[in-house]
Amino acid sequence: MIIRDAVEADLPTIVEIYNATVPTRMVTAELEPTTVEARLPWFREHSSEHYPFWVAESEGRVIAWLDFKRFLPRSAYRGTVEISVYVDEEFRRRGVGQRLLEQAIARAPSLGITALVGLIFGHNEPSLKLFQSLGFERWGFFPGVAQLDGVERDLVVMGQHCPPRATAIARSLVQSRINNQFNDSQSLMYLLMQYRHEPIHSKMLKIRDKYSMLHLDVLILIYHFAKICSDNILEIGAFVGGATIAAAFGVRDSGTPKKLIAIEPGGSVKHKRLGTRNIFRDLERNLARQRVSELVTTIKGRSFDPATISAVNETLGADKVGLLILDADAAKRRDIECYCDRFADGCWMVIDDYYGIGTNAKITPSRADVEALTAAGYLQPLGFYGWSTWVGRWGGLQR
Ligand SMILES: C[S@@+](CC[C@H](N)C(=O)[O-])C[C@H]1O[C@@H](n2cnc3c(N)ncnc32)[C@H](O)[C@@H]1O
Repeated sequence: MIIRDAVEADLPTIVEIYNATVPTRMVTAELEPTTVEARLPWFREHSSEHYPFWVAESEGRVIAWLDFKRFLPRSAYRGTVEISVYVDEEFRRRGVGQRLLEQAIARAPSLGITALVGLIFGHNEPSLKLFQSLGFERWGFFPGVAQLDGVERDLVVMGQHCPPRATAIARSLVQSRINNQFNDSQSLMYLLMQYRHEPIHSKMLKIRDKYSMLHLDVLILIYHFAKICSDNILEIGAFVGGATIAAAFGVRDSGTPKKLIAIEPGGSVKHKRLGTRNIFRDLERNLARQRVSELVTTIKGRSFDPATISAVNETLGADKVGLLILDADAAKRRDIECYCDRFADGCWMVIDDYYGIGTNAKITPSRADVEALTAAGYLQPLGFYGWSTWVGRWGGLQR
């Protein structure tokens, strides 16, 4: 896609793109389509105002346009300019509007523009989000000022100074982080729904019933993260192997060699479905039954024992961890501190015992640890799943 100055020959397409938005009642306050003849003086005015009028072109076809116009006629407002962006229906949600706006923001200071504003209907959420993601803030709100087919609609004025002020940049960085996190959370929920229609779902259900205390959704997420992560996998508190097997299936289906390390001290557990007198023996037996033993390095020991830490470091070599499954005791911070220098930035994190009702002694301290690490920016939450599992990503050590 290229962005170039519009020429008169583009006007029919410019008008066509504009007219397509009229019946949507989302973008323009114009209620009837316009014509090329009616728009010719408007188009020519741009050159006399010395503001550019740009079109975006893809494979020789004009697919979007952006124009600048004075916000208000009085001289004191001469640096404040209104921008409008229109994108051909076929090319929406592909970043075309974003590219045009980015160019407008970048070029504004050299055009003598000190502030840019966009006038957007309050119900036009995609445009509001787009402007917000590029550092625009809500500067004005006019409730019910537009009458669209008998419905009163609000008008929002989005604005930004050119060049942007430091506070606005900081706010927009925070906002874009929140937006990204929100999008990632939604993608995860969507992904889980998709998995419900795939064969792995019933396979995981069987694994859950036989070997795991975790919720099926959490096992599916572990499978998925193990499949997509680009580094290795570390599990702390493998028990009899439910989550380990889920991760091993993910590694196998990724078709990429990845190390999968499972730490478990062993012992016995009374549990009506999963009770065992020898956790470690059952872990190894279950991995063998599911034919994934060769994909897993089991380490018998407690996470924080120096011997365990050395064994993990030896197995990893110089490689990083791209997925952490943490389901041991309540000391989440302790385990994270033992291994955080091995986490890749953005390492997927599945941490159990985050949420619970009733009296589970693990929950309160686990949750306090996760919340403190989140507040400090080390952990980035993406959601809570199953019975009590926190899911998110490692934010890195350079806070
Ligand atoms: C709730 S179970 C894990 C359940 C497992 N994720 C599943 O899919 O069913 C917790 C396990 O953590 C182990 N554990 C407890 N403290 C540990 C530690 N410090 N290091 C490693 N494992 C530990 C326990 O022996 C127990 O098997």
